[in-house]
Amino acid sequence: MGLLETTDLTKSFGGLTAVDRVNLDIEEGESVSVIGPNGAGKSTLINLITRMLDASSGDIRFKGDSIVAAEPHEVVQRGVSRSFQTASIFPDLTVEENAQIAALAAEHGSFRFNFLRRRDSYGEVDDLARRMLDAVGLWSQRNVTAVDLPYGDKRRLEIGIALASEPDLLLMDEPTAGMSPEETANTVELIEEVKEELDLTIMLVEHDMEIVFNVSDRIVVLNRGSVIAEGTPEEVQGDPEVQEAYLGGVEV
Ligand SMILES: Nc1ncnc2c1ncn2[C@@H]1O[C@H](COP(=O)(O)OP(=O)(O)OP(=O)(O)O)[C@@H](O)[C@H]1O
Ligand SMILES: [Mg+2]
Repeated sequence: MGLLETTDLTKSFGGLTAVDRVNLDIEEGESVSVIGPNGAGKSTLINLITRMLDASSGDIRFKGDSIVAAEPHEVVQRGVSRSFQTASIFPDLTVEENAQIAALAAEHGSFRFNFLRRRDSYGEVDDLARRMLDAVGLWSQRNVTAVDLPYGDKRRLEIGIALASEPDLLLMDEPTAGMSPEETANTVELIEEVKEELDLTIMLVEHDMEIVFNVSDRIVVLNRGSVIAEGTPEEVQGDPEVQEAYLGGVEV
């Protein structure tokens, strides 16, 4: 049994079927990349799994239990985390304060504004914040105001924030978008490091094929909401239907 399984997962927006009967089976410890042209349904798929969106039909199972109707914070508590883009960072707070807030939110299941009254778990929160900053290599920059971090380090902090809930499965939607080649290389290294160190299963949505081929055990190709191919990087690369789907000018 896989860690994450979707069965005929479908999402329609009016007449448009953004995700169309998708069957995923991600094993524990795997790195799976989901690729596909713009509008293929990749982000929608992540939004369904994290319960940001309601599925139109089909099922999602995590560790054997259906989460298709779960609350988003419940999905996090069960061990699914998502690396958001800069929206999850408080720009005027320091790196360490950002980490502490993420750690607090993780401790309490969801972000509740009564946390200031709970002093009992401060030690644990500090400890978790420190471990997550260590994991993403930002401990030495803990006193820097987040807004002043270089772009690549901001994205690193986002990954750290996603790790605060100590997930089993980390979902990432284009984690290297907008990065310089050097920042991209560092991020790929970081993803591989935290995967090893924290024993993570990873589902990555990414346009940059070099990254995809470097970090994936398996690739799932979406086109117009449907899975058109899946396999090892080598298998997918040689697939004529995949090459065809990418002929519309999307960078491969
Ligand atoms: N909230 C929404 N309401 C209506 N249509 C939507 C919504 N979200 C996504 N769509 C549509 O669903 C389709 C899939 O979008 P999605 O964002 O999942 O694609 P994607 O594969 O992530 O694309 P990209 O590579 O550009 O990020 C697109 O046609 C998009 O316009
Ligand atoms: Mg997207």
